[in-house]
Amino acid sequence: MSNMNRRSFLKSGGALLAAGTLPLSLIEIAFGQSSAENFTFAFISDSHITHIKGNEFVRNWDRGLIRAVAECNLLTPRPDFILYGGDLAQLGIPEEIDHALEIMGAARGKVHYVMGEHDYYVDLGDYWRKQLGPDYYSFDHKGVHFVVLNSIVTFDDWMHKDWENGMARMKEMARLDNPRGSPFMVGEPQRDWLRQDLAKVDKDTPLVVVSHSPLQKIYKGWNFWTEDAEQVQALLEPFRKVTVLYGHVHQIQYNQIGNISFHAAMATAWPWPYPATYAQAETYLPKLTVEMNRADPFFERDATGWQFINLHTGNADVHYLLPENQNRVVAFDARAGQPVDTRYQGAAGRIPPQTHY
Ligand SMILES: [Fe+2]
Ligand SMILES: [Fe+2]
Repeated sequence: MSNMNRRSFLKSGGALLAAGTLPLSLIEIAFGQSSAENFTFAFISDSHITHIKGNEFVRNWDRGLIRAVAECNLLTPRPDFILYGGDLAQLGIPEEIDHALEIMGAARGKVHYVMGEHDYYVDLGDYWRKQLGPDYYSFDHKGVHFVVLNSIVTFDDWMHKDWENGMARMKEMARLDNPRGSPFMVGEPQRDWLRQDLAKVDKDTPLVVVSHSPLQKIYKGWNFWTEDAEQVQALLEPFRKVTVLYGHVHQIQYNQIGNISFHAAMATAWPWPYPATYAQAETYLPKLTVEMNRADPFFERDATGWQFINLHTGNADVHYLLPENQNRVVAFDARAGQPVDTRYQGAAGRIPPQTHY
């Protein structure tokens, strides 16, 4: 599949044809000899549903989420559940959250939601929690322990300073380049909760942690960053197999830190640029990540896409399917002990840069 472009993939048919070119992930957990059962789940992220006025919403963002849900419903095998990676709304207002949940209401099966900063900073998550429940929790599914964290809280003094209103606070945080924003974090109360939650879990149990911001430090200027990432990583360190899935960055990223494999999801809405392209700032883009050539500003779906993920005994192989671009496979390499881009990791195999006019 990694050698096919999208058109040949679509022409090839097969079970995945129904999934099309959608911004969602299907994650398959396979256990080999273990007593746990194999299963799949889907991962949709960053829809940024945006209210204009009255009943009007930004159509392209609506369409990204509508397509993701529709094609998720057609996946074979049927995913056991859906994870939603955060940034359901653009400015977190009830109109946007209600409209997004109406679209998500078409999804078959249980959805586990993650809080994004675009859902949070207008009212500190009140409306989101009223509609969806707690913003951090854990659950077990067929032998895997899942943890959902709210990784986008920040320092109390910034959150509670003398804002004109909640929307003023949201608008400082909702920008990509937000010099008057504040770093995201999981925070001490959630870290305490996580410590207690994980104390009950056998260290051989595969662990999947889902957050909105990366639980690693990539680029602070755009909040591709979690301030207490190292403290959270330390709590995950005793476990043999740990996968962290995150949204927020709207691009392909992968990394390995100790026992933890990191994988980002593409957005259903739009791609963000790569931190490395922002020459004025130091970047900590994961060293394993090979950037994808893009974006075509005249192609609304450029660098959005979907991922098919196999979690083999707790390690993820991520199949990225991209409209009009070369498909990519980032697979866990057992000998190297880390994820590797199976085709483009070596410089010689990379896609030549696009030409822009
Ligand atoms: Fe986002
Ligand atoms: Fe975000």
